[in-house]
Amino acid sequence: MSVSTTPVISLIRGDGIGPEISEAVVKMLDAAGAKLSYEELPAGEGALRLHQDPLPEITIQSISKNKVALKGPLSTPKGSGFRSVNVALRQHFDLYANVRPALSFPGVPSRYKDVDIVTVRENTEDIYAGIEHFVGPGRSAAESIAVITRFGSERIVRYAFEYARRHKRKKVSIIHKANILKMSNGLFLEVAKAVASEYPDIQHDDVIVDAACMKLVLFPERFDVIVTMNLFGDILSDLIAGLVGGLGVSPGANLGEKAAIFEAVHGSAPDIAGMGIANPTALALAAEMMLHHLGQSEAAGRLRRGILTGLADERLRTKDLGGQANTKTFTDGVCAAIGHGG
Ligand code: NAI
Repeated sequence: MSVSTTPVISLIRGDGIGPEISEAVVKMLDAAGAKLSYEELPAGEGALRLHQDPLPEITIQSISKNKVALKGPLSTPKGSGFRSVNVALRQHFDLYANVRPALSFPGVPSRYKDVDIVTVRENTEDIYAGIEHFVGPGRSAAESIAVITRFGSERIVRYAFEYARRHKRKKVSIIHKANILKMSNGLFLEVAKAVASEYPDIQHDDVIVDAACMKLVLFPERFDVIVTMNLFGDILSDLIAGLVGGLGVSPGANLGEKAAIFEAVHGSAPDIAGMGIANPTALALAAEMMLHHLGQSEAAGRLRRGILTGLADERLRTKDLGGQANTKTFTDGVCAAIGHGG
């Protein structure tokens, strides 16, 4: 993408801790010299209150036009109420690839020191396709249907192998449950193996999801890139976030041909909303991914070096990482580090 004009970013500050971490990340982006302008948009609980719609048309229109969004977390009521705005955005813009890197950062307390795993999660199909209904009298049962297509499987697996090649990664692990879900997951595995055979330069293996969970916890260093379907990708990427210090340091990108939406893996954290103690790192790392996507790699490098300096400094560490600092202290520290060249 060209860097000659200033790109306009659709900025959704989000619910819960969303406004606090978005403000912090916009400050860090400014400090890193990112050339961006922002169009602020409503979505989630806040939009429901103001516009009677958790995903107003104005937000859809802005993302269609700008093609790049930075999004704070959005709350979704459990069981009843509106459907997930995150899922709706992914489906509306066909953001089929959810890329979630997890890396052990120096200074971030975690059980492991050498984790470097990128999860590539299919983002539009599977049990999240939205086909759900009650069956039988008096809601005595309910069904959710998992849809896996040859087309969807092929494009996500190809994305994972292309990603591996582009980022000089060595191996792609295909995660599935084809031993039990012989048709849906069997189709995914069959397609994945066929795509893998086109990439002789990248090693691959396939691992059943339950065994993958055990191996990830025992030997995370054996994993490199993971490709999987929507539900397993959702769960595994949180597990993997736990290997590197938690959700506070885990970013994600939702990518497709029509748009790209960058966000933290975590949710709106209502338990700490408004307290000024949220860790903005995950959204800041997502913003770094966004800068690379926009071709602003120098600003991305400055932002990353600032974040790494912040994470390595015990005095700047937020509560979720075992420290005492608040959002503002961490953000000011990162911005100062960027100002001093990281
Ligand atoms: P959550 O990720 O919001 O919180 C889980 C735990 O992690 C909480 O104790 C929270 O305080 C902590 N935490 C999360 N992010 C943090 C941060 N940046 N700094 C410090 N601590 C942090 O998950 P939960 O509670 O299950 O979901 C809350 C809401 O968020 C729900 O409505 C859910 O649907 C929504 N959600 C939205 C997502 C998105 O917008 N992409 C993703 C996941 C959940």
